[in-house]
Amino acid sequence: MSASLPAEFLKSSPDFRSCPEPKFPEYAFIGRSNVGKSSLINMLTGRKSLAKTSGQPGKTQLINHFMIEKSWYLADLPGYGFAKVSKKMRGEFDKMIRSYCAHRENLINLFVLVDSRHEPQKNDIEFMKWLGENGLPFSIVLTKIDKLNPTKLRSNRSAYEKQLLNHWEELPKMFISSATGKVGREELISFIHHWNQELADHFPSAR
Ligand code: GTP
Ligand code: MG
Repeated sequence: MSASLPAEFLKSSPDFRSCPEPKFPEYAFIGRSNVGKSSLINMLTGRKSLAKTSGQPGKTQLINHFMIEKSWYLADLPGYGFAKVSKKMRGEFDKMIRSYCAHRENLINLFVLVDSRHEPQKNDIEFMKWLGENGLPFSIVLTKIDKLNPTKLRSNRSAYEKQLLNHWEELPKMFISSATGKVGREELISFIHHWNQELADHFPSAR
Protein backbone atom coordinates (compact mmCIF):
# COMPACT_ATOMS: atom_id res chain seq x y z
CA MET A 1 0.00 0.00 0.00
CA SER A 2 1.48 3.35 -0.97
CA ALA A 3 2.39 5.94 1.66
CA SER A 4 -0.34 8.36 0.64
CA LEU A 5 -3.81 8.10 -0.83
CA PRO A 6 -5.23 10.56 -3.35
CA ALA A 7 -7.32 12.79 -1.09
CA GLU A 8 -8.97 16.16 -1.30
CA PHE A 9 -11.02 18.26 1.04
CA LEU A 10 -14.55 18.69 -0.32
CA LYS A 11 -16.58 20.79 2.10
CA SER A 12 -17.63 21.54 5.66
CA SER A 13 -21.31 21.14 6.42
CA PRO A 14 -23.35 22.28 9.41
CA ASP A 15 -25.80 19.35 9.05
CA PHE A 16 -26.50 16.17 7.10
CA ARG A 17 -28.72 18.01 4.62
CA SER A 18 -25.84 20.04 3.27
CA CYS A 19 -23.39 17.11 3.00
CA PRO A 20 -22.06 16.16 -0.47
CA GLU A 21 -24.30 14.06 -2.72
CA PRO A 22 -24.43 10.50 -1.33
CA LYS A 23 -22.93 8.99 -4.49
CA PHE A 24 -20.00 7.26 -2.82
CA PRO A 25 -19.62 4.94 0.17
CA GLU A 26 -18.87 6.94 3.30
CA TYR A 27 -16.87 6.23 6.46
CA ALA A 28 -17.08 8.60 9.40
CA PHE A 29 -14.69 9.19 12.25
CA ILE A 30 -16.33 10.08 15.47
CA GLY A 31 -15.44 10.26 19.13
CA ARG A 32 -14.81 12.58 22.03
CA SER A 33 -12.99 15.78 21.38
CA ASN A 34 -9.19 15.48 21.30
CA VAL A 35 -9.25 11.69 20.87
CA GLY A 36 -7.29 11.99 17.63
CA LYS A 37 -9.88 11.83 14.82
CA SER A 38 -8.28 14.42 12.58
CA SER A 39 -4.78 13.05 13.24
CA LEU A 40 -5.91 9.54 12.29
CA ILE A 41 -7.42 10.82 9.04
CA ASN A 42 -4.12 12.49 8.19
CA MET A 43 -2.21 9.34 9.04
CA LEU A 44 -4.51 7.15 6.91
CA THR A 45 -4.29 9.41 3.89
CA GLY A 46 -0.60 10.13 4.41
CA ARG A 47 -1.37 13.88 4.27
CA LYS A 48 0.09 15.89 7.09
CA SER A 49 -2.57 18.56 7.35
CA LEU A 50 -5.55 17.38 5.34
CA ALA A 51 -7.74 17.49 8.47
CA LYS A 52 -6.98 20.25 10.93
CA THR A 53 -5.64 18.99 14.25
CA SER A 54 -5.18 20.84 17.48
CA GLY A 55 -4.01 20.41 21.05
CA GLN A 56 -7.09 22.43 21.93
CA PRO A 57 -10.26 20.34 22.10
CA GLY A 58 -13.20 21.37 19.96
CA LYS A 59 -11.23 22.25 16.83
CA THR A 60 -13.59 20.45 14.45
CA GLN A 61 -17.06 21.99 14.65
CA LEU A 62 -18.57 21.01 11.30
CA ILE A 63 -18.90 17.79 9.30
CA ASN A 64 -15.83 17.79 7.07
CA HIS A 65 -15.92 15.67 3.93
CA PHE A 66 -12.91 14.37 2.07
CA MET A 67 -12.90 12.54 -1.26
CA ILE A 68 -10.46 9.62 -1.16
CA GLU A 69 -9.12 7.74 -4.17
CA LYS A 70 -11.90 9.38 -6.19
CA SER A 71 -14.16 6.58 -4.95
CA TRP A 72 -15.09 6.98 -1.29
CA TYR A 73 -15.86 9.68 1.25
CA LEU A 74 -14.31 10.12 4.59
CA ALA A 75 -16.10 12.33 7.13
CA ASP A 76 -14.39 14.01 10.09
CA LEU A 77 -17.01 14.83 12.70
CA PRO A 78 -16.88 17.21 15.65
CA GLY A 79 -16.09 15.65 19.01
CA TYR A 80 -19.11 14.87 21.14
CA GLY A 81 -19.32 15.66 24.82
CA PHE A 82 -16.85 18.50 24.60
CA ALA A 83 -16.92 20.02 28.08
CA LYS A 84 -15.60 23.48 27.37
CA VAL A 85 -18.37 24.71 25.09
CA SER A 86 -21.67 25.80 26.63
CA LYS A 87 -24.22 23.16 27.51
CA LYS A 88 -26.51 24.50 24.80
CA MET A 89 -23.80 24.20 22.15
CA ARG A 90 -22.93 20.70 23.34
CA GLY A 91 -26.57 19.70 22.92
CA GLU A 92 -26.54 21.17 19.41
CA PHE A 93 -23.41 19.21 18.48
CA ASP A 94 -24.86 15.97 19.80
CA LYS A 95 -28.09 16.56 17.91
CA MET A 96 -26.22 17.35 14.71
CA ILE A 97 -24.02 14.25 15.02
CA ARG A 98 -26.91 11.92 15.78
CA SER A 99 -29.05 13.25 12.97
CA TYR A 100 -26.10 12.84 10.57
CA CYS A 101 -25.60 9.22 11.74
CA ALA A 102 -29.28 8.39 11.43
CA HIS A 103 -29.93 10.04 8.05
CA ARG A 104 -26.76 9.76 6.02
CA GLU A 105 -27.85 7.09 3.56
CA ASN A 106 -24.41 6.24 2.13
CA LEU A 107 -22.79 5.85 5.55
CA ILE A 108 -21.21 2.40 5.60
CA ASN A 109 -19.41 2.39 8.90
CA LEU A 110 -18.67 4.66 11.81
CA PHE A 111 -15.32 4.40 13.43
CA VAL A 112 -15.83 5.34 17.06
CA LEU A 113 -12.48 6.48 18.40
CA VAL A 114 -11.63 6.09 22.06
CA ASP A 115 -8.39 7.00 23.82
CA SER A 116 -6.59 3.75 24.63
CA ARG A 117 -5.21 5.26 27.87
CA HIS A 118 -8.56 5.76 29.53
CA GLU A 119 -11.19 3.57 31.10
CA PRO A 120 -14.44 3.31 29.12
CA GLN A 121 -16.21 6.67 29.45
CA LYS A 122 -19.91 6.96 30.09
CA ASN A 123 -20.70 9.09 27.04
CA ASP A 124 -18.74 6.76 24.72
CA ILE A 125 -20.68 3.74 25.93
CA GLU A 126 -23.95 5.68 25.72
CA PHE A 127 -23.21 6.76 22.19
CA MET A 128 -22.37 3.19 21.13
CA LYS A 129 -25.55 1.96 22.77
CA TRP A 130 -27.51 4.52 20.79
CA LEU A 131 -25.81 3.35 17.58
CA GLY A 132 -26.67 -0.25 18.40
CA GLU A 133 -30.30 0.58 19.16
CA ASN A 134 -30.55 2.35 15.82
CA GLY A 135 -28.93 -0.48 13.89
CA LEU A 136 -26.00 1.68 12.78
CA PRO A 137 -22.84 -0.30 12.00
CA PHE A 138 -19.75 0.82 13.86
CA SER A 139 -16.33 -0.33 14.92
CA ILE A 140 -14.05 0.91 17.66
CA VAL A 141 -10.59 2.37 17.25
CA LEU A 142 -8.35 2.57 20.32
CA THR A 143 -6.16 5.60 19.61
CA LYS A 144 -2.77 6.91 20.78
CA ILE A 145 -1.41 3.48 21.61
CA ASP A 146 2.12 4.94 21.47
CA LYS A 147 1.31 6.50 24.84
CA LEU A 148 1.05 3.25 26.79
CA ASN A 149 2.86 -0.05 27.07
CA PRO A 150 1.52 -3.31 25.60
CA THR A 151 0.45 -4.72 29.00
CA LYS A 152 -1.58 -1.64 29.84
CA LEU A 153 -3.06 -1.64 26.33
CA ARG A 154 -4.15 -5.25 26.76
CA SER A 155 -5.79 -4.56 30.12
CA ASN A 156 -7.55 -1.42 28.87
CA ARG A 157 -8.77 -3.29 25.83
CA SER A 158 -10.18 -6.08 28.01
CA ALA A 159 -11.90 -3.50 30.22
CA TYR A 160 -13.59 -2.08 27.13
CA GLU A 161 -14.67 -5.48 25.91
CA LYS A 162 -16.07 -6.34 29.32
CA GLN A 163 -18.15 -3.15 29.41
CA LEU A 164 -19.43 -3.73 25.90
CA LEU A 165 -20.43 -7.28 26.70
CA ASN A 166 -22.82 -5.83 29.28
CA HIS A 167 -24.82 -4.49 26.36
CA TRP A 168 -24.05 -6.78 23.44
CA GLU A 169 -23.61 -10.46 22.92
CA GLU A 170 -21.16 -9.89 20.14
CA LEU A 171 -18.31 -7.40 20.24
CA PRO A 172 -17.90 -4.81 17.53
CA LYS A 173 -14.68 -4.98 15.53
CA MET A 174 -11.84 -3.28 17.37
CA PHE A 175 -8.82 -1.59 15.78
CA ILE A 176 -5.79 -0.04 17.43
CA SER A 177 -4.02 3.04 16.13
CA SER A 178 -1.23 5.50 16.63
CA ALA A 179 -1.08 8.52 14.38
CA THR A 180 2.47 9.28 15.44
CA GLY A 181 3.66 5.67 15.14
CA LYS A 182 1.59 5.01 11.98
CA VAL A 183 -0.02 1.96 13.56
CA GLY A 184 -3.30 0.59 12.25
CA ARG A 185 -3.18 2.11 8.79
CA GLU A 186 -3.13 -1.12 6.79
CA GLU A 187 -5.93 -2.74 8.80
CA LEU A 188 -8.23 0.27 8.59
CA ILE A 189 -7.66 0.87 4.90
CA SER A 190 -8.08 -2.84 4.07
CA PHE A 191 -11.36 -2.87 6.00
CA ILE A 192 -12.61 0.13 3.99
CA HIS A 193 -11.43 -1.33 0.68
CA HIS A 194 -13.16 -4.59 1.49
CA TRP A 195 -16.50 -2.83 2.03
CA ASN A 196 -16.06 -0.67 -1.04
CA GLN A 197 -15.66 -3.81 -3.09
CA GLU A 198 -18.61 -5.56 -1.47
CA LEU A 199 -20.84 -2.56 -2.16
CA ALA A 200 -19.59 -1.72 -5.63
CA ASP A 201 -22.97 -2.49 -7.22
CA HIS A 202 -24.70 0.09 -5.02
CA PHE A 203 -22.36 2.90 -6.00
CA PRO A 204 -21.91 2.91 -9.78
CA SER A 205 -20.20 6.34 -9.62
CA ALA A 206 -17.41 4.85 -7.52
CA ARG A 207 -16.35 2.34 -10.18
P1 GTP B 1 -11.43 17.61 17.88
O1 GTP B 1 -11.41 18.03 16.45
O2 GTP B 1 -11.22 18.72 18.84
O3 GTP B 1 -12.65 16.84 18.22
O4 GTP B 1 -10.15 16.66 18.15
P2 GTP B 1 -9.65 15.39 17.33
O5 GTP B 1 -10.29 14.17 17.84
O6 GTP B 1 -9.73 15.64 15.85
O7 GTP B 1 -8.11 15.30 17.78
P3 GTP B 1 -6.79 15.76 17.01
O8 GTP B 1 -6.49 14.85 15.87
O9 GTP B 1 -6.87 17.22 16.72
O10 GTP B 1 -5.68 15.45 18.11
C1 GTP B 1 -5.72 16.00 19.41
C2 GTP B 1 -4.32 16.01 20.01
O11 GTP B 1 -3.86 14.65 20.22
C3 GTP B 1 -3.25 16.66 19.13
O12 GTP B 1 -2.37 17.36 19.96
C4 GTP B 1 -2.57 15.49 18.45
O13 GTP B 1 -1.23 15.78 18.08
C5 GTP B 1 -2.63 14.42 19.53
N1 GTP B 1 -2.67 13.05 18.94
C6 GTP B 1 -3.58 12.58 18.06
N2 GTP B 1 -3.34 11.29 17.73
C7 GTP B 1 -2.24 10.92 18.42
C8 GTP B 1 -1.49 9.68 18.52
O14 GTP B 1 -1.78 8.65 17.90
N3 GTP B 1 -0.42 9.70 19.38
C9 GTP B 1 -0.06 10.81 20.10
N4 GTP B 1 0.99 10.69 20.91
N5 GTP B 1 -0.73 11.97 20.02
C10 GTP B 1 -1.80 12.04 19.20
MG1 MG C 1 -10.72 17.13 14.78
